[in-house]
Amino acid sequence: MEPCTLVIFGATGNLSRLKLIPSLFELDCAGYLPDNMVILAFARRPWERDQWLDEVNGMLKEKFPDGVDQEVLVRFCDRMEYFQGNLDDEGSFKKLRKTIDSDSKFSNNIAFYMSVRPAEFGSTTAKLGDAGLLEEERGWRRVIFEKPFGYDLLSAQILQKKLSHYLGEHQIYRIDHYLGKGTVQNVLVFRFANLLMEPLWNRQYIDHVQITHSETSGIGSRADYYEGSGALRDMIQSHLLQLMTMVAMEPPALMDDESLRDEKVKVLKSIRPITQNAVHAHAFRGQYSAGNINGNSVPGYLEEKNVISSSTTETYAALKLYVDNWRWRGVPFYLRTGKRMAEGASAICIRFKEPPTTLFKGNHLNRVSPNWILLGIQPNECLKMEMQVKMPGLEVETRTISLDASYRKGQERGTDAYEGLLLDVMNGDQSLFLRYDEIEWAWRVVDPVLKVWSMERDFINTYPAGSWGPKGTYRLFDRDDQFWRHSLDVSATDVSSEGF
Ligand code: BG6
Repeated sequence: MEPCTLVIFGATGNLSRLKLIPSLFELDCAGYLPDNMVILAFARRPWERDQWLDEVNGMLKEKFPDGVDQEVLVRFCDRMEYFQGNLDDEGSFKKLRKTIDSDSKFSNNIAFYMSVRPAEFGSTTAKLGDAGLLEEERGWRRVIFEKPFGYDLLSAQILQKKLSHYLGEHQIYRIDHYLGKGTVQNVLVFRFANLLMEPLWNRQYIDHVQITHSETSGIGSRADYYEGSGALRDMIQSHLLQLMTMVAMEPPALMDDESLRDEKVKVLKSIRPITQNAVHAHAFRGQYSAGNINGNSVPGYLEEKNVISSSTTETYAALKLYVDNWRWRGVPFYLRTGKRMAEGASAICIRFKEPPTTLFKGNHLNRVSPNWILLGIQPNECLKMEMQVKMPGLEVETRTISLDASYRKGQERGTDAYEGLLLDVMNGDQSLFLRYDEIEWAWRVVDPVLKVWSMERDFINTYPAGSWGPKGTYRLFDRDDQFWRHSLDVSATDVSSEGF
């Protein structure tokens, strides 16, 4: 791989501490970083390089408490440089350019990582551009933007306009870190490397699709961000809609970035718009109140630091969507996410229709359960298929069994989403990054709901921390026999509805 320089804006922040630095270190361990790659931290604190190195060591200790390979650590620290600068100051960017231009250890292939507040994306890019740091005469220049990209459709359009003044689309890497997860990529492999699934993957056989992301943690110290965001923007507009496009998309002509993203955009465009008066039939929101997580009492959202006491920001959101195309018309996709839920898990659960004639009905047998395909994203990385088999014995009774084609075997190492994504940036592969039209169409899906919710600021349903969300979300379901699937274990199929 060509040598490159990675400049991290906001290098001392949380994302850098928890994800970027540890992932870069893992890549170095596995021999993926180019020999002369330099990682340049751009931050406000008046530190010397040694202080930054202490910080990096601290980050690695926190992430790898059992210790790390010392030889790699020395190599990794050699790559580190520190630049004290201020995002608001044009002079800092001029100085940055001078630093990079005057020292041959900095490669002219440069990636800039915006691990800063979204409000600073536009102005920081403008300063990079004005300082001449985005010109590609002597090497490539790429800029990585964390989510959220905009706050709604209009603000995304404004941001895009600003960025496109300085950058070509080929230079913009919009991250949705879910696309870097191995189990998410496995959805495409499952669908398009196994011919067996394709004939069944449509409205004729599939009853509905559920996509869930639940967390036991609360908002922690992120109130400043979360108060302006809420669960619908934070998780559904980005990660869950991306998962949905992977389940619903047509096979791409090629597995290259444009073909893949063309197909995802087609799905987003086909989502039936939710009109303002249909919002209550299609969307449900809630906010956690005090409760219990793993035996410990935890405060409610309104008691969290920096949350105003009258806040109606949703920490739970559920949405029912229809994809109005030939493959999916009439099949509901139920998406839900929540903080402070009973369990932390992400999964895609696909329920099949019942057989056309119920051969076992009318006698003493139980009603036969439908087939499910369960794609566990995390922490249970699995791929299961639930089927009916006859129980041993003289009676013809059926039971549900689960065929398990789990993702990882034995000691195989899982990789963090950021490892693959950082490598893709260095390789110039945009397949797992969002193209601008994906972002626009995703905003179009959620914007009407956001508008109605923002007008109804006097009430929000609550749910106790440690539960599966607010009561009443069942009203999103099309039929009485549809219910949220909370577990990927077989017994869950038979327990059926919990009523919320
Ligand atoms: C982030 C959201 O994008 O994704 C967080 O801002 C959320 O609120 C996180 O907790 C979930 O990511 P993961 O990889 O932990 O499932």
